[in-house]
Formats: sequence, C-alpha cells, structure tokens
Amino acid sequence: MESALQQLEDIEQEALKGIADAEDAESLDRVRVEFLGKKGRLTRVLRGLAAVPAQDRPQIGQRVNEAKERLARAVDARKSAIREREREARLSGPQLDISLPGFGQPCGAIHVLSRTMAEICDILGGFGFCIAEGPDIEDEYHNFEALNIPEDHPARDMQDTFFVHGGRVLRTHTSPVQIRVMESLQPPLQIIARGSVYRHDDDVTHSPMFHQVEGLMVDEGVTFSHLKGVLTAFLQRIFERELPVRFRPSYFPFTEPSAEVDIGCVMCDGSGKADGVCRICKGSGWLEILGCGMVDPAVFAHVGYDSEKYTGFAFGLGVERIAMLKHRIGDIRLFYGSDLRFLKQF
Ligand code: PHE
Repeated sequence: MESALQQLEDIEQEALKGIADAEDAESLDRVRVEFLGKKGRLTRVLRGLAAVPAQDRPQIGQRVNEAKERLARAVDARKSAIREREREARLSGPQLDISLPGFGQPCGAIHVLSRTMAEICDILGGFGFCIAEGPDIEDEYHNFEALNIPEDHPARDMQDTFFVHGGRVLRTHTSPVQIRVMESLQPPLQIIARGSVYRHDDDVTHSPMFHQVEGLMVDEGVTFSHLKGVLTAFLQRIFERELPVRFRPSYFPFTEPSAEVDIGCVMCDGSGKADGVCRICKGSGWLEILGCGMVDPAVFAHVGYDSEKYTGFAFGLGVERIAMLKHRIGDIRLFYGSDLRFLKQF
C-alpha cells in the first residue's frame, strides 16, 4: 500500500515537472497523453488495482482520481500560459510590414477571341480602316439581295441561315454592313465591320455563332493590287512572320473577280508533313484563311454608286479560324466553354 502510494506520488511529481517544462502546445500535449491518456501511466495504475489487496483499492483509486484532476488542471493552466506567452511574442515581435506586396487577387483577362479580334482591328486600323457597325438581326435585302445573292441562291438555304420572324435573318456574314455603310456614305471610304455572324453549322471547326471581320475600301482607282498588298501585309502582321500568301480564284456573288486567300501552313511551314501528313493542312502545305474580291458592279448599283467612276475591294475573315491557327487550338467549342484551364493559357 505504502509503495503504491509512493509510486503514485512519483508519477504525479514527474508529470508536474513535465508539464512545467513543456515549452509549446505540442510538447504539452505529449506529456498529457503520456500521463492522462487512455493508455497513460495513471490509467495503468488504475488497471493494476486488481493486484492490490481489496481493502486498499478505494484509497488508491481515489488518489489516482485526485492526481488526474490536479494534473488536468495543471495542463490547462500551462496551456493558457503558453498561449499567453505566444501572444506576447507575436505582439512584441517585428511589426506587421504593411509595405510588403500582398498575395494578389486572381484576376480576369481578356478572352483570347476578344484579343484576337482587337489585334485584327488594330492592324487594320493602322492601315487606315475605320470601324463601322451593323445589326446582328438583318433583313434579307441587306444580308442577301443587295449583295447580289438572288432569291434562289443556295446560300439562302434553310441549312445555312437562321430565319427570324418578320422576314428577318441572323446575319450570315458581316458583308451586309458594306451595304449599310455605302447607303449612308459616299466614297472614298475605308471601313471594317466586326461582330458575330450565325450559320446552321456545328462541329469541331464550325460553330452556329462565330465572328468575322469585314473590310471594304472604295475610291477611284482602287485595284486588286491594293487588295493583295493590304491582305499580305495584314496576314504577316497577325501571324507575326513572313508567311507565304497566295490568292486562289474563287466565287462570291458580291465580288468579281473573287479570291480565296491561303497562307503557308503554320503547322508544317508549308511542307505538308508533320509526323506524317500534316493534319492541319492535310498535306497541301496551304491553309485557306479568308475570302475577298473586287466589289461587284451589281452591288454598287444597289447603293447608287457609279461603277464607271469607283472601284473597291472587300474581304471577310473568320476570327475563330485565325485564333485557332495562331494558337494551335483544335476545337472551336473551347472558345465558348468558359473552361478556366483553357482560358488561363492565354
Ligand atoms: N462574306 C463572305 C463569307 O462570309 C466573305 C467575303 C467577304 C468574301 C467579302 C468576299 C468579300 O464567306
């Protein structure tokens, strides 16, 4: 009995010393677990009561409980003391330096499409083109008829055009802005029109809504050479390199002659090969990039321009297509998906 009580006394003293020596919350907790924990030394004494003569058990049990209480109070007191000391240290330590740079807020950025659009307009603005505007919901006259696209032309087909009630359509290209500008201004003029256009089309390279930039220049003596010069300079600026550019005869109802413009493939540098057949240009080495031509006299007739006196050129390009080629983006839908993992790359 005496030895058991002595043993308890020793344990308690040892524990109190450990508590007093604990310098921080963790070491204090280690002491607490060692003595007061479920498998702690005091608990072990209680477990060992079986070996103690029955008449001594209550007294020893009571002493264990008293010791537990005292130690628990000592732990609490020490915990407060440690906390208080840490607070003191924090307060008397180096002052908060409010001149340090902050952690920063995540901040948005201009969408890659908007940026491409802005770059295109900047370059063309530098060539003297001013921005003109037109509505997204057009009448058939401006979207088709005045552009020399007759009633039965396949481009008007249900498959391509979104029809809106009241004989209106979602504009299928930015070319109707040409007509609106020429209806209200006399030459010389040099404008670009930018914005959304709509076509019934949906796959990895086509979207039912996409963006175009249209250019129009009308004056006395405007020739196809001017068109070639402007577009070649523009394409080399937007792709930031001396790419080969070729003009391939084509057809648009509102231009004559018409051309499609190709650039040397940005993936394979015109070789047609990149790990086998280049999958961007399908081996041809060329990429179709825009449509253009000299304004058809029939269009001038609709707006009352004298086509004996004036000539003009026009071109139209897809902003998504340029952004996809410039940044090697394989799927047009990524532009509209709001996926930050995609957007953050730009
Ligand atoms: N509007 C034509 C299109 O959307 C592009 C174009 C514009 C072609 C101007 C020639 C001149 O496909």
